[in-house]
Amino acid sequence: MLVCIPNVLDAAQVVSLRERLDRAGEAWVDGRVTAGYQGAPVKFNQQIDELSDVALACQRIIVPTLERNSTFISAVLPNVLYPLMFNRYGEGMTFGAHVDGSVRLDPRDGRKIRTDVSATLFLTNPAEYDGGELQIQDTYGTHSIKLGAGDMVVYPATSLHQVAPITRGVRTSCFFWVQSLIRDDSQRALLYEMDGAIQRLNQTNADEVARRSLIGCYHNLVREWSET
Ligand code: NI
Repeated sequence: MLVCIPNVLDAAQVVSLRERLDRAGEAWVDGRVTAGYQGAPVKFNQQIDELSDVALACQRIIVPTLERNSTFISAVLPNVLYPLMFNRYGEGMTFGAHVDGSVRLDPRDGRKIRTDVSATLFLTNPAEYDGGELQIQDTYGTHSIKLGAGDMVVYPATSLHQVAPITRGVRTSCFFWVQSLIRDDSQRALLYEMDGAIQRLNQTNADEVARRSLIGCYHNLVREWSET
């Protein structure tokens, strides 16, 4: 399930993040430092060490916002967030087709994190660059994603995806992975749809007994399917 979440960050947060990232200078390194054997030959971008001071400062802006975002929580059902990372693509840079690595070691404590969901939070407006679409394949074809600054896409980490070459400007983004409470994408999708329906029923004050029953089913499904 691919979900676009608008306005995860407000304009002031985007400006603050961009100021820090655009000033980061030598903290930007070749993106191949974290690529696996499949990604390295096709990865041409720059990124910032996720434990660097600038990355930590940016994480402190974004993580509390994510934790309050009801669409993110409902769609992803996060268990563990890999430390948020930052990348940028200048003219000619690209990241060819690949599937993200399935398990990553958390650099903070060495624990293994299973990557169930991939996320890209755009920090550059589409008018500032040409190319650079995030192209994600699923059973319904290829989705070309290019969102406004502050908007985010989340998609199953099992998806084949690529970043089209940049032909003008610079594209700066935050990206990260999540180990979800719900490992299976189709189960997460069902829960997301069910939660959306419950929220609508709550807003319309629909039949209280039926709502209570539906909410109970939602929680009992999460209990049944979740891994912690
Ligand atoms: Ni990727």
